[in-house]
Amino acid sequence: MTKPRIGIAGLGTMGLGIAQVFASAGFSVVATDAQALARENARDRMASALGKRVEAGKLSSQARDDTLSRLTIVAAPEDLTGSSLVIEAIIEDMVAKRALFAQIEPALSPEAVLATNTSSLPVGGVAQGLTRPGRLLALHFFNPAPAMKLVELAGHADTDGDAIALARRLTEAAGKTVIDCPDRPGFIVNRCARPYYGEALALQEEGRSPADIDAAMLAAGYRLGPFSLIDLVGADVNLAATRGMWTAMDGHPRYHVFDSLIRQVQSGALGRKAGRGFLFPDAPGAPPADAQAIVKRIESTLINEAGWLFAEGGVTPDGIDTAMRLGLNFPYGPFAALQRHGRDSVLETLAALETAAPAHLAGRYRPAPIVTGG
Ligand SMILES: NC(=O)c1ccc[n+]([C@@H]2O[C@H](COP(=O)([O-])OP(=O)(O)OC[C@H]3O[C@@H](n4cnc5c(N)ncnc54)[C@H](O)[C@@H]3O)[C@@H](O)[C@H]2O)c1
Repeated sequence: MTKPRIGIAGLGTMGLGIAQVFASAGFSVVATDAQALARENARDRMASALGKRVEAGKLSSQARDDTLSRLTIVAAPEDLTGSSLVIEAIIEDMVAKRALFAQIEPALSPEAVLATNTSSLPVGGVAQGLTRPGRLLALHFFNPAPAMKLVELAGHADTDGDAIALARRLTEAAGKTVIDCPDRPGFIVNRCARPYYGEALALQEEGRSPADIDAAMLAAGYRLGPFSLIDLVGADVNLAATRGMWTAMDGHPRYHVFDSLIRQVQSGALGRKAGRGFLFPDAPGAPPADAQAIVKRIESTLINEAGWLFAEGGVTPDGIDTAMRLGLNFPYGPFAALQRHGRDSVLETLAALETAAPAHLAGRYRPAPIVTGG
């Protein structure tokens, strides 16, 4: 049976990667971009990405050629006609995304699904103005899309159940693990990761060194410590994501933007791309004597954030754990961590943190119902 056609709008980092995911899995992919240059060199860019896999012995040259033969580049969004699923990966701008979907929708059948790859915009907002808003949902891929197994799927309040089912089926057929999540800021991973950085920055402001904090997390099985992760992604990118989440969550102290992160960005030591960061080019050394206490504190806040998300509905503990393992390479998810530490002990840690919290962080450590047993 011929596989349904997949449309892609936006051939930047994410769009090209998502196109490769579906073309590699045997789907015919039709793709477009507003920039002529991006359309013209898309095939070469995909060929180069696949070529690296051929050189590494992970892909045959026949499979590379077959994948490339399934890619068709078209001039305009209206040309994505015939697609069963269109995934948008253009700039992160609500007005631009709405305008794009308004152009695409009339070219598709009423059963087709429209998906946004937005990282931070409300899915319901992107659907506004469509004739069939029930056909729109979010499929949030991670970078690099071909390598990252996880895709977060979020419908908005009025997304049709069969649109969600079709998007899930096609994305799973392309080899991804699809986790349902609510239309909430940051979905699962970008939100539940906040305390990994935030609590590390809180510890740093209390006088602990990034090397000690990272070493403690490495000793617990995390592949990269919080500061090494910020150095990898860029302190400026981390600051923008933190500010975005703080704003989206109405300035709740759980998403506090720590001064040390702002100062780090102002200093220009943004991480790997700047040649120096919080820790880079150094590596963490041996874990400090109180490594377990550091891990307990950071994991307690990760558990609590996951607990608050769970309390809002639309996601399961298993879904959150899987998303955190696949999206961040965590050795285990927050609910598995809750099992390890035990509820009473996490509650005790959060209570001690809340008691010691300065005025501007009051309420930061208020325990979620799953932690209190409520
Ligand atoms: N980069 C990431 O790590 C990442 C991860 C997950 C989600 N996202 C989201 O994916 C989307 C794309 O991000 P990216 O990093 O690939 O961006 P990018 O800048 O690499 O690519 C965006 C592409 O979209 C094109 N474009 C812009 N406006 C367009 C329009 N109106 N119609 C058609 N094409 C248009 C641009 O020419 C560009 O080629 C954003 O919504 C972003 O938030 C990014």
